[in-house]
Amino acid sequence: MSKGPTFLYDCDTGIDDAITLLYLASLVRAGEAELVGVGTVHGNIDPLTGALNTLRVLEAAGMTEGVPVAVGAPRPMAQDVHYALDWHGTDGLGDTHLPDPAGRPVAESAPAQIVRLAREMPGELTLLATGPLTNLGAALLLDGELPSLVREVVVMGGAFDHPGNITTHAEANIWHDPEAADLVFAADWPVVLVPLDATHPTAVHDDWLDRLGAHDGEVAQFAARILKFYEVAYTPTLKRRGAVIHDALAAMLAVDPGLGEYVHRPVRVELRGELTRGTTVWDARSLPAEDVRRPVKVAVGSDVAAFQERLLTAVVSL
Ligand code: RIB
Ligand code: CA
Repeated sequence: MSKGPTFLYDCDTGIDDAITLLYLASLVRAGEAELVGVGTVHGNIDPLTGALNTLRVLEAAGMTEGVPVAVGAPRPMAQDVHYALDWHGTDGLGDTHLPDPAGRPVAESAPAQIVRLAREMPGELTLLATGPLTNLGAALLLDGELPSLVREVVVMGGAFDHPGNITTHAEANIWHDPEAADLVFAADWPVVLVPLDATHPTAVHDDWLDRLGAHDGEVAQFAARILKFYEVAYTPTLKRRGAVIHDALAAMLAVDPGLGEYVHRPVRVELRGELTRGTTVWDARSLPAEDVRRPVKVAVGSDVAAFQERLLTAVVSL
């Protein structure tokens, strides 16, 4: 079996990022992917806390060696920083206030780590991004050749035929740094975008959550514990007990693209709209001939049952 993607993971470890790290750890353990590093960024929480949370999760999953965790941008390129404490808790892991990890972040910044690893492994990296795109935007500014060095960029973010979740139109990861996101969608590299249109239908509810909670493994109990806060935060939106583990869908579509349904269109980010700043915009007509942007592969749906089963199986397998 092919070894699968070689991931460099950029995230704002929060709760669904944490579950995604557990999923990636299960893939690495099964020899179905590699994880060569993690970078953290402002968003759900500050990037240093996000890095310590990432180390907590990797250690809980038994991945204590060989995955450098680099702290990235503490704020967006052109607006004030904003944390999603209501959704992820004051510690980014559902107010569980877990003990400090044994490991520490590396000295290298997350954008510098992206550039270095892309140059060390030209054409190999799948850059998975499930937080604001500030680190990727900074890396693009640091190294103009970066798009030609990366195999694929997979981003959780955006909303098209779906309401926003941080403003009426904008999804959180894009809204947190619209300028950086537009740099990512304008660059000449293959981007897969997994927006709320695809992630919201994958919401897990009582059955999935109870099956996770019924597993007595330490990692399953860790996951169930940090998800408790997220379930409560999501219940008003979902109108029943549940949670949307957005980031894990982006990771799973990177591993098995066949689970998704896609359209290919150039994507832009509204930067000036008073009501719409941070909104992802695609041209739903036939592609204007003058559109110079490379089309983005936008996920508009997925095999929800397969996603939910594979994610649960992965988490309880650790
Ligand atoms: O809009 C959902 C995204 O915002 C997820 O990545 C979640 O972790 C938050 O960062
Ligand atoms: Ca995230």
